[in-house]
Amino acid sequence: MKPLALVTIFGVAAIGWLNAQTPNHNTTHYEAEIQALLDAMTLEEKIGQLTQISNHFDITGPPPDEGENKIRYDLLSKGLLGAMLNITGTENTRAIQEMHLKANRHGIPLLFGLDALHGYETLFPVPIAEASSWDLEAISTSARITARESAAAGVHWTFAPMVDVSRDARWGRIMEGAGEDPYLNAQVAVAKVKGFQGDDLSANTTIAACAKHFAGYGFAEAGRDYNTVDMSRQTLHNVVLPPFKACVDAGVATFMGGYHELNGVPVTTHAYLLQEVLREDWGFEGFVVSDYNSVKEVASHGQAADLSGSAALSLQAGSDMDMGSLTYHYHLQELVASGQLDESVIDQAVARILRVKFELGLFDDPYRYCDAEREKRWLSAPEHQEAARSVARQSIVLLKNEQELLPLSRQNRIALIGPLIKDKDNPLGSWRARGIDSSAVSIWEGLQSAWPDARWSYAKGCGITTGARSFRDRLTIDYDTSGFAEARRVAAEADLVVLALGEDCFMSAEARSRVHLDLPGVQQQLLEAVYEVNPNIVLVLMNGRPLDLSWMDERIPAIVETWFLGSQSGHAIADVLTGAYNPSGKLPVCFPRSVGQLPLYYSQKNTGRPGDENHPHIFWSGYIDERTDALYPFGYGLSYTEFTISDLKLNTSTLTPGEALTVSLTLTNTGDRAGHEVVQLYTRDHTGSSTRPVRELKRFQKVFLEPGQHRKITFELTEADLAFYTANGVWEAEPGRFSVFAGNSSKADLEAEFELAAPR
Ligand code: NOJ
Repeated sequence: MKPLALVTIFGVAAIGWLNAQTPNHNTTHYEAEIQALLDAMTLEEKIGQLTQISNHFDITGPPPDEGENKIRYDLLSKGLLGAMLNITGTENTRAIQEMHLKANRHGIPLLFGLDALHGYETLFPVPIAEASSWDLEAISTSARITARESAAAGVHWTFAPMVDVSRDARWGRIMEGAGEDPYLNAQVAVAKVKGFQGDDLSANTTIAACAKHFAGYGFAEAGRDYNTVDMSRQTLHNVVLPPFKACVDAGVATFMGGYHELNGVPVTTHAYLLQEVLREDWGFEGFVVSDYNSVKEVASHGQAADLSGSAALSLQAGSDMDMGSLTYHYHLQELVASGQLDESVIDQAVARILRVKFELGLFDDPYRYCDAEREKRWLSAPEHQEAARSVARQSIVLLKNEQELLPLSRQNRIALIGPLIKDKDNPLGSWRARGIDSSAVSIWEGLQSAWPDARWSYAKGCGITTGARSFRDRLTIDYDTSGFAEARRVAAEADLVVLALGEDCFMSAEARSRVHLDLPGVQQQLLEAVYEVNPNIVLVLMNGRPLDLSWMDERIPAIVETWFLGSQSGHAIADVLTGAYNPSGKLPVCFPRSVGQLPLYYSQKNTGRPGDENHPHIFWSGYIDERTDALYPFGYGLSYTEFTISDLKLNTSTLTPGEALTVSLTLTNTGDRAGHEVVQLYTRDHTGSSTRPVRELKRFQKVFLEPGQHRKITFELTEADLAFYTANGVWEAEPGRFSVFAGNSSKADLEAEFELAAPR
């Protein structure tokens, strides 16, 4: 007999003597086990497996009425669910699993999912920040730690990584991914999937990953969340799909759809994506979960006349699990009974879900992910916090550093000004899983602890938003300028000002699109007011999207992009500002000169009338009132030392299919500090049956060098690296002339050429 469990869910307290029996499944023969279960299950029980519910409506959608709460609760207590989301902690997950298993006569455990995107309780930098580290090992470590903490707290499944390529800074979810480039996104995605899932999905320190939002969500028109997506097959295959394919190849357990339509079809019902591409071409064997409520929204899109139609189209297309909407629950039985849906379609989806449950080891022990001892040991463990600090400092991008303002000098009187200096909450970022509010190390704390004896002064200056409690309040702008006078006084008395400005962290993520890429509220005014009395400013930015920094770039001598760095933010920022760590981050996305340039990305097409900023004329593809290029380009980021890249060489001028092209170069640290440089290799395919981008990232390597040290770096490329989705709709490389560019940003200017020979 197990102890009394008390759990409050949907406002209903469930008390019971729980004696769930765990069936002894043979996990090496899943197919036979799955078939046996399918044979024994009623249609109602099968539909239960396709149903996922949440009890955390604040984040995922509008609260359902009491009637729906009651239905959800009934499903749970009758053992008629496949999964839940947002249930966490050993106590809750154990109680709910017990309750469910007690009623589920086949002993099929529930799956518990959570949006653990950048940590569980220990928070790492938000994904766009982490991608700025260009350090795949670090990114994998953060995913591994996230998995270890989540798994200890009863969570089996994270809704991450988000691998949506995104090129529009207005889109609030640009923060959740690795930016604008398909290759970088794919590399980061693989690092994350491996970090979350490890080598053995059934280990009690690994969890199932979920590649989302399949596919094209990052291309929402006008950067407006949930908006229509319309793109060519070429863009879909060359830009959007590669990171998803990389996840399948890395063994990702699940996929998630999205809220949007792609080329006229909601992705929830997109048979081309979910069947042809994902299952037939890529051989994906896991299951697909819809996005929250999106099965129901198929009718709102106008593809189905009613919710029964939504359910039929979604399941038939390949959305195996209905997250949140209960549309499968309400309509699948009737669809089968009326002959409109073949039960075998349901069986297939159930089998995919059961397979993942077997792989997670849940049939062997449904409580293996829920262990109070491990939960106590690992949540916010010191070694996790240490790792978070290390990843965080690698994620910082130094955008500008003139007059050698950075690193700071201990001798100076330094004024710390701005709403984010003492802020312990914003650095945690959005989608903070079970991170504890206001638990981040602030910039103030980080600097005080690094240099306790330095002469610091402080003024807040202004706020960003008025609210502090709910994230909805935090979108209300604070226009109070009464702190400006104090800020100017403090700035005037200092040798140098560290000014911390940016967005509230809840201004990015789902449904947080912006049309202005400025500093919200009165922060720009504060910046100008401080600049008037002391222009020696180090601007430290926290934001979830690229901002328009044109004004700052013209006037402010030092600019540091920190995004939202998580639990150890203040220490990481202090490490960089004091020079204890030499910044090494590189932008995974262009920073525009104006919002009017969006979408903006380095791998653009040449067009028939390519521009030249230095010799502008009227009839070219440019603007009459702004440059076309980025203010800070993709791949860009400075260091406190200087690096040069030289001796670019190719081992051959003709690459024969089946052989390799070796590209070599020399990286030298010509400055006087040790540091990391990210060497980047781009190619250009000069002619294609469908037009090719002016350059594409193909390889990168993060290298550490002592002052004066140099190293020969080599990269290998093969024909496969040059393949693309051609005009004929096949993935292959086309013979012809190629350029290779090497450098430390997408502006890389060392160039060599080679020819790809035709296949023999
Ligand atoms: C909606 C979001 O679009 C998705 O990314 C998330 O995983 C689910 N809600 C669950 O919270």
